[in-house]
Amino acid sequence: MPTLAVYPGSFDPLTNGHVDIITRGARIFDRIIVAILINAEKAPLFGVGERLEIATEVFTDLPNVEVDTFDGLLVDYAERRRAQVIVRGLRAVSDFEFEFQMALMNRRLNGKIETVFMMPAEQYSYISSRLIKEVFALGGRVHGLVPDMVEERLRQKVNKR
Ligand code: PNS
Repeated sequence: MPTLAVYPGSFDPLTNGHVDIITRGARIFDRIIVAILINAEKAPLFGVGERLEIATEVFTDLPNVEVDTFDGLLVDYAERRRAQVIVRGLRAVSDFEFEFQMALMNRRLNGKIETVFMMPAEQYSYISSRLIKEVFALGGRVHGLVPDMVEERLRQKVNKR
């Protein structure tokens, strides 16, 4: 049976750390669905439609990567999509505690779905969407840390203000 994985997140915005994990995931799973959570934050910088557009564009050349949105419980979405695996990225030890809680809660909610942790390349191990937004908003350089398309859209948002 083909192995289908879901890689869930807010992706506000997509970073090169996410891209790295998705690319690795696409090499080991038959199919990986990038699942963007709807309404994760009350005031996201990028709307869900924009985030969907960005990820779809970034992964056009990877045929086994699909981009979708979801709301409600992640395990219910994974079950509906018939995915056997949830992929989460682990950067530093600081990520571990919350990820461990989520993995075990998700297992309790649906024992058939396995969480698999993957490590990004070390040059991305300190990046988060939150830091990207903060650094960019304060005039710092984020080049090389996010896809070019994200950098461009961040610039447009700042120019619009
Ligand atoms: O990018 P993020 O914010 O770290 O992603 C968090 C996400 C989307 C994986 C998590 O908030 C989630 O799964 N939300 C869906 C609701 C749910 O299932 N909550 C219970 C998780 S144990």
